[in-house]
Amino acid sequence: MQELISRALPQGVFVVTVRNGEEINGMTAAWVSQVSFKPALVAVAIAPPRHTFGMIEEAGIFCVNALPKDAFELAKHFGFKSGRKTDKFKGIEYSTALKGSPVLKAAYAYLECSVVSKCEAGDHVLFIGEVVDGNELDPEAEPMIFRWNDFFGGK
Ligand SMILES: Cc1cc2nc3c(=O)[nH]c(=O)nc-3n(C[C@H](O)[C@H](O)[C@H](O)COP(=O)(O)O)c2cc1C
Repeated sequence: MQELISRALPQGVFVVTVRNGEEINGMTAAWVSQVSFKPALVAVAIAPPRHTFGMIEEAGIFCVNALPKDAFELAKHFGFKSGRKTDKFKGIEYSTALKGSPVLKAAYAYLECSVVSKCEAGDHVLFIGEVVDGNELDPEAEPMIFRWNDFFGGK
């Protein structure tokens, strides 16, 4: 079913980053979408067990980092371990967006968002954020497209 859904609804691969005080973290996410034009709103679906979830709840800010198609290892790095136990930013180059969120050097574009609402959606929660900062860092880059089997092979 997951393979079918990811084929039927093509999506990019993103790293959603967050700063809560001194702590920074990021996690790979495919379930990211624009949901309003005016104001510009972006929704991210984050499962409550993720360390990133509590950090976004507390900080009220998140940043969507769009990955180019050659960033597969980075997507796995941020998607298969938790910031609860590991500093995933160790050795990773980044800068800082307007409100303090990390912006990966490897991202071709980013959107920093201020949370305006959230709603439960099954086993995930949708954080809806208004875009407060953003930039395209590499206009030539081709986006990575999420394919279930590339990451979760055969299930
Ligand atoms: C390609 C890919 C896409 C993912 N998409 C999502 C997503 O949209 N929402 C989510 O909650 N987790 C998603 N995950 C899982 C999280 O990235 C993963 O659980 C991560 O380790 C959480 O890190 P954290 O505990 O530091 O927040 C995805 C993982 C991968 C590899």
